[in-house]
Amino acid sequence: MKVALLANLKKNAPTWPGMSPDQWDDLDSEATIEGIMEAIRSGGHEVTFLEGDRTLLETLPKLKPDICFNICEGHFGDGREAQVPALLEMLRIPYTGSQVLTLALTLDKPMTKRVLTFHDLPTPPFQVFERLTETLNPDMQFPMFVKPSREGTGMGVSVESVVYDHDQLHTQLQRIFEKYSQPVLVERFIEGREITVGVIGNLVSPVAWRIPDNEDAPRIQRGLHFFPPLEVNMEAYPEERGVYTSRIKVDLAHDFRYICPAPLPEDLVEDLRWLTAAVFRVTGCLDVGRVDFRLDASDNNKPYILEVNPLPGLNPGYSDLCLEAAADGWTYEELINRILGEALHRYGLDE
Ligand SMILES: Nc1ncnc2c1ncn2[C@@H]1O[C@H](COP(=O)(O)OP(=O)(O)O)[C@@H](O)[C@H]1O
Ligand SMILES: [Mg+2]
Repeated sequence: MKVALLANLKKNAPTWPGMSPDQWDDLDSEATIEGIMEAIRSGGHEVTFLEGDRTLLETLPKLKPDICFNICEGHFGDGREAQVPALLEMLRIPYTGSQVLTLALTLDKPMTKRVLTFHDLPTPPFQVFERLTETLNPDMQFPMFVKPSREGTGMGVSVESVVYDHDQLHTQLQRIFEKYSQPVLVERFIEGREITVGVIGNLVSPVAWRIPDNEDAPRIQRGLHFFPPLEVNMEAYPEERGVYTSRIKVDLAHDFRYICPAPLPEDLVEDLRWLTAAVFRVTGCLDVGRVDFRLDASDNNKPYILEVNPLPGLNPGYSDLCLEAAADGWTYEELINRILGEALHRYGLDE
């Protein structure tokens, strides 16, 4: 197969005077690109890297790939992760991973939470602020967690994200509005362990949309492979006070402290898998994804879904999904080629 690896390299990203230092924290490094290219080659394919921006309109028709391995995060706009897939669909070129609707939806955390809530999937109670002057809903209780609605990789997430009163809430809202110019998501703060579950594959129908009322009803997850849950070892980061901050994700990424498989009772692991499958299903993910959870320490470790990542980081050295795959006995090459294989299969290109 002729594969085009589409990504947005940090070093190719636009710059301007006064831009925030974390502006492109979610974009990819050359090490990730090289790792993925090598892995795809080891799978017996030919691979070329193309920067995932408007130059694709010229480079793709020239290269004529059979399929694109897409990990583009995009640069601008509230649907930025969906832009390259939209273009690929216009050009009718197959690509790995989730499609336009899913990528636009999941970039927007409040919108995703509305979909989860509709399906009775547990996510922390929340309120979205579009202006500083909006009043807090009376059913929201302190402490709360304040974060941008449409960022990732811990952008805008620090120990100050946890607020204990109206003054702190006001300060944090102001900060996020100024820095990220987008609606702010305020959630109930879930005190407890930090767990993330990676998954690969595609659900084979028929699949339930919701958690069945009947505890004994079969939980259909056929077609998905779950990696062992990864727990962030918060004890290694006392200054972060239990928050998986931008500092841990970016500044300290090369020395990430984690436990995988997370020491959890088997029935809780099974619940996490089931919730991951349900999130994958209701948000329409394809091929690969990672769901982030917090376990509520005050409620018997009840899992709450924080977000779903249909474009999980793929840095071979430290991305959560890669560490989970490694803990499951998979090589990085196997992980990358399995994602590619899932997509080839969906398009009927693997025969
Ligand atoms: N409601 C919440 N309660 C407790 N911690 C939270 C909450 N929301 C986010 N966090 C913390 O912030 C981190 C980043 O939030 P997340 O929504 O996953 O954004 P990102 O896209 O940056 O990963 C989480 O991993 C968690 O540590
Ligand atoms: Mg997250």
